[in-house]
Amino acid sequence: MPAPKSVKKEAAELRRELNEHNCRYYVLDTPVITDQAYDHLFRRLQQLEQDHPELANADSPTQRVGSEPASHFESVQHEVAMLSLDNAFDEDEMLAFDKRLRDKLDQGSTLAYCAEPKLDGLAISLLYDSGSLVRAATRGDGRSGENITANARTIDSIPLGLVGDDIPARIEVRGEVYMELEGFDALNRSQAQAGAKVFANPRNAAAGSLRLLDSRITASRPLTFCSYGVGICQGVELPPGQFEQMHYLRGIGFPISRNIERLDSINDCIDYYRRILEQRDSLDFDIDGVVFKLDNIGLQREAGFVSRAPRWAIAYKFPAQEVMTRLLEVDFQVGRTGALTPVARLEPVAVGGVMVSNATLHNMDEIERKDIRIGDTVIVRRAGDVIPEVVAPVVQQRSGELKLPSMPARCPVCDSEVVQQPGQAAYRCVGGLVCAAQRKEAIKHYASRKALDIEGLGDKLVEQMVERGLIDSIDDLYQLSLEQVAELPRMADKSARNLLQALEQSKVTTLSRFIYALGIREVGEATAEALAAHFGEIDILMDADFDSLQMVEDVGPVVADNIRHFFEQSKNRDIVNALIQQGVSWPSVDTVRQSQTLAGKTYVITGTLEGFSRDHAASLLKEQGARVSASVSSKTSAVISGENPGSKVTKAEALGVEILDQAGFKRLIGE
Ligand code: IVH
Repeated sequence: MPAPKSVKKEAAELRRELNEHNCRYYVLDTPVITDQAYDHLFRRLQQLEQDHPELANADSPTQRVGSEPASHFESVQHEVAMLSLDNAFDEDEMLAFDKRLRDKLDQGSTLAYCAEPKLDGLAISLLYDSGSLVRAATRGDGRSGENITANARTIDSIPLGLVGDDIPARIEVRGEVYMELEGFDALNRSQAQAGAKVFANPRNAAAGSLRLLDSRITASRPLTFCSYGVGICQGVELPPGQFEQMHYLRGIGFPISRNIERLDSINDCIDYYRRILEQRDSLDFDIDGVVFKLDNIGLQREAGFVSRAPRWAIAYKFPAQEVMTRLLEVDFQVGRTGALTPVARLEPVAVGGVMVSNATLHNMDEIERKDIRIGDTVIVRRAGDVIPEVVAPVVQQRSGELKLPSMPARCPVCDSEVVQQPGQAAYRCVGGLVCAAQRKEAIKHYASRKALDIEGLGDKLVEQMVERGLIDSIDDLYQLSLEQVAELPRMADKSARNLLQALEQSKVTTLSRFIYALGIREVGEATAEALAAHFGEIDILMDADFDSLQMVEDVGPVVADNIRHFFEQSKNRDIVNALIQQGVSWPSVDTVRQSQTLAGKTYVITGTLEGFSRDHAASLLKEQGARVSASVSSKTSAVISGENPGSKVTKAEALGVEILDQAGFKRLIGE
């Protein structure tokens, strides 16, 4: 049944209202209704269109979700060519541009210009018939582009229907489609997560998103539109100035630049350039310069064109944020926590106005994914305050066999082993205490409250001591003299004395604090306590193998691996011994457990015990203060052997270690 007149009217009214609210939100930045109220109107229109499908027309705000994929893009002829811009790179070129125009136009005095930032996206043309968007096209080669109407409709800041009382019969508006940095980062994160291609920069992301055959995907991309000019206009008289024309566009629903200004002279233009350049890093989007257009449209016509660019406009470019250079070498930097990151050594190049010779490559996975090789020509990007990064290799310029960067087996700082933890992209130096790159952090941790709790030894002080070469490793702390400490900035004699006293006092500690203080990766307080209770002595912990470590509650393969790696480094063992030599001590764990009958004993369980799981048997032994180990050594008190014992029994026999059967085990635990 066709929709009654009243419904038709309501739908048209809703569309008009929604377009107006859209304009207030995206163009004027002064919304007058809440998002909730907007959604309410929106859903009402959706309902009407669903009940009466013949009402649904293409410029309805409900159609921004995209439609069925197309097989290709139709070609579109531009009625008025979409030109490009000449560039200026310095003040002299700007002054020359102004002089040329004044000469040509016979204007002795100053010329006024309209200025805007040059957005780094892609140019499109939007055509409106009687206020409705009927066609959107890319710039293409300037004469013809591609019909991307379905995609353009999904961009919220592109008006689908114009607003106000002064709508032209026909108007073609030009502007830039771009992606804001936040949206770009989010898009790349989700692309990476989905294993899809990540975009090198916001401009590529915008171009790629606008040229998708499936507009439903375009709808999900964070694209933005900003207008900067008029192509054709019929049915209204446009104002005679560029600046005023842009404000007319704003009035009928088109977003224009927040930074648009009318300037009285070329000197003001140069000043504008400096001001925008200063703001560049704090903007939410990439710009690559500023554009100046002669403000007087009559004079624009008189000035005319040269080949592909107007004589009346110029782009004053900023220093490029992306440049090409050669990747000379890949080195590895060791961070405070021991993580190794690949660093690109580059042939020095200016990026964004700053000379750059190093850039981050993030991690090995990233290098592999991007297929970056030593000797490649690479694209380097530096935007804002962020560290310069290698974006991609220029594969076309590759010649001959180039070496792939590889992670060193040993730490470039301390020569300790480098390991990759299973399931993690990061590689780490296991040097811990001995690695100069990790020294400051290691000492800060050792002195921290939950570790040896050295009062007065704060982070700043540690940094100063290390930087002045007073301490190289933790044990050096206990060798500090009063003079050395007193010489440090802001250290009075009294505070120096206090610090030495605190150091002396810290020597009396507990085994668990001491283990925690060593700063072994992923060994927190609770694990340190469990290790102390289980092994009882630092020597036994230092010698414990992978299996024995895993017998400790909460110690899984990763932590066991960390502990083993740590104590495998002879330098770490030396430091532990040096600390003990300096007088660091703790009450023996055995004395704590005097009441427990199996305190100080170590057992190994092998085979199946009737009525007890391995874990249960082990916990019964531990309750009595015993340690349970996975491997037999001369220190083993006894091996408990159930059904089908393994080779551990043979080893026990060889070492002369006592072997207990099921009955012996029961006696042991008092059953
Ligand atoms: S005016 C005849 N204004 O820069 C004038 N272009 O290099 C044509 N662009 O294709 C363009 N921001 O994609 C103009 N405020 C702005 C601009 C701008 C970015 C882009 C546009 C154009 C290219 C020319």
